[in-house]
Amino acid sequence: MIKIDVLTLFPGFFESPLSASILKIAIEKGLLEIRLHDLRTWGVGKRRNVDDRPYGGGPGMLMTPGPIFEAVEAIGGTKDGRLILLTPQGKRLDQELLDELAREQRLVLICGRYEGIDERVRIGLSPEEISIGDYVLSGGEIPSLVLIEGLARQIPGVLGDASSADAESFKGGVLDFPQYTRPPEFRGMRVPEVLLGGDHKKIDEWRRQEGLRRTLAVRPDLRSGGTDGYR
Ligand code: ADE
Repeated sequence: MIKIDVLTLFPGFFESPLSASILKIAIEKGLLEIRLHDLRTWGVGKRRNVDDRPYGGGPGMLMTPGPIFEAVEAIGGTKDGRLILLTPQGKRLDQELLDELAREQRLVLICGRYEGIDERVRIGLSPEEISIGDYVLSGGEIPSLVLIEGLARQIPGVLGDASSADAESFKGGVLDFPQYTRPPEFRGMRVPEVLLGGDHKKIDEWRRQEGLRRTLAVRPDLRSGGTDGYR
């Protein structure tokens, strides 16, 4: 069972993804608990402000530190878990990190918004910073969902054995081999003959080769012991 508190200005972002498919199942099975906290609850003044202009000038607005600190305090701190800030400046999320996070009992995710976040959130709360890739989104909500869905799959009991195997093969540094189902011929495209025969040694060898070929074509970095932790 893993408990995740999400601090966000847009709790609505999470509603539909949490009520479908794997995440719904994980929650229903009691293996995952998500608590959404609207940062505006701790906003300032009648309009519950949560952002302001940057000192020193510049475009855009920054999230003020107050609501984030107060939210963390209101949920009882993060002593028993990991505090994570989703930001493009963070450590790149990968399968290894997801596996590690899936073994935690509690996570607190801070979703950044606007042009950034007051630096005192980093100084005072020392969150771990995680990025889902080298591109910039408008906020940490979708990255949080990516993280939640990626780790939910790794919680024992959420998936059947068959489907949990694919992450393992990815960690082994090889992408999935091509898969086919019926019909044997579709619009002139035939299922490779080897898959139609029953020779499992041949099938295994074909799959291994095709997985490798695909990997070398699109992700050679996975095979060359690149910089991302995969072998
Ligand atoms: N917030 C905005 N862009 C992001 C990214 N790529 N990863 C994590 N959080 C983000």
